[in-house]
Amino acid sequence: MKIAIDGPAGAGKSTVARRLAEELGFVYIDTGAMYRVLTWKALQRGLDLYHEEELNRLASSIKIHFENDCKQQKVLCDGKDLTAAIRLPEVNAAVSTVASHPTIRRTMVEQQQHMASSISVVMDGRDIGECVLPDAEYKFFVTASVEERARRRAAELAASGLHIDYNTILQEITRRDKNDSERQTGALKILPDSIIIDSSEMSVEQVLQKMLAIIQGE
Ligand code: DC
Repeated sequence: MKIAIDGPAGAGKSTVARRLAEELGFVYIDTGAMYRVLTWKALQRGLDLYHEEELNRLASSIKIHFENDCKQQKVLCDGKDLTAAIRLPEVNAAVSTVASHPTIRRTMVEQQQHMASSISVVMDGRDIGECVLPDAEYKFFVTASVEERARRRAAELAASGLHIDYNTILQEITRRDKNDSERQTGALKILPDSIIIDSSEMSVEQVLQKMLAIIQGE
């Protein structure tokens, strides 16, 4: 079975996707982390973020894989644990530029489809229901108000020791929403078969239970 979870930044997709995969015994794949790893690598190498060909060469050459810890999913690239590094503000600021290049998206979508090819997965991102897993049995679109999403992101960063001003995060998320939904390929959008969940006033547990009821109730 394939389950797609799409939605804007900070809507709580990753936490819910990881928990849902755990409940169902499926593998969780965080595709945002893959774009983040590529961005981190590109920044490390001082690449021009608008040089699509050079970035795509990098995308095709790196090996990203996930490891499940008890509470968190670790992201590794070429043997290095990048779980914390890919959440740094410089990656947040650059990732939607990297993710806007059509050839990069094609490379990433191929890798994601390959990862999901022979297993049951819960995959989260922006274009999962439309491009990566168009045949997914369930396509959830998880959203929340931009203010609530900024508040959650601020709390999440604070918990990992990064104290960033709420308004800075709000601006950043607004800019990223715009880039993610206006790009030409793989833009974030609600599909005709999306199941929309507005999590603004719901806890992770409530969103999870709602998804499980939909999946198991049929
Ligand atoms: O979900 P996230 O915030 O970790 O995603 C990081 C960035 O990657 C975000 O700006 C959108 C982009 N992304 C994408 O374009 N397609 C995906 N399938 C997943 C993420």
